[in-house]
Amino acid sequence: MNASDKKRNAAKAAIEFIEPGVTLGVGTGSTVNFLIELLPEIRDKIDRVVSSSIASTTILEAHGFEVSTLNEVGDYDLYIDGADESNKRLQLIKGGGGALTREKVLAAAARRFICIVEDTKLVGMLGRFPLPIEVLPMAQELVSRRMLKMRGQPIWREGFVTDNGNHILDVHDLQISNPLEMEARINRIPGVVTVGIFAHRPADILLLGTDDGGVREMRS
Ligand code: A5P
Repeated sequence: MNASDKKRNAAKAAIEFIEPGVTLGVGTGSTVNFLIELLPEIRDKIDRVVSSSIASTTILEAHGFEVSTLNEVGDYDLYIDGADESNKRLQLIKGGGGALTREKVLAAAARRFICIVEDTKLVGMLGRFPLPIEVLPMAQELVSRRMLKMRGQPIWREGFVTDNGNHILDVHDLQISNPLEMEARINRIPGVVTVGIFAHRPADILLLGTDDGGVREMRS
């Protein structure tokens, strides 16, 4: 089973959690793109859709969905998104695709958050995947210096601008033994818009596509 097949299987499994009348939050990335492809089959069940990125909005609209803003829907039913890493507590690293800020906002407003990944993304300790941080462009050097002090190796994602007009630092070599503390600590650095640790709002359910073609379910 290759990574794409496992992602597709996790996305298919998430479809089973979508109940009639749902307001659905849609994340960003290749795993979510498999989910979006399946949504037209259950169009009748979906009342409203909100999206975490311009990229996902474009694909949703191409499939005939009208995308609402979060301000229009308020707190809502279900957010489905991928991740770059998860630990057993369903605390995540996200932002490989650079959409972490809007993803964190959509996750915060959702009553339930289902994360869909392939099984290699389940790790003992977060941090093997370089930690994305969205920063104000004028604060990029300040945040980089602070991350060096925390023994991380920040690399500017050159040429990439987020949907919010900001930059991304990918911080290598961090050992995130306490995700709650690290999330709060990095969030406190002036100029940080969002850190890609999702620990204060972890996933509620993790669906992992596995090598045998199945899907393993974990709950926090
Ligand atoms: C987008 O910014 C990320 O948080 C994605 O959710 C994450 O990178 C997972 O992407 P894939 O589904 O493409 O692996």
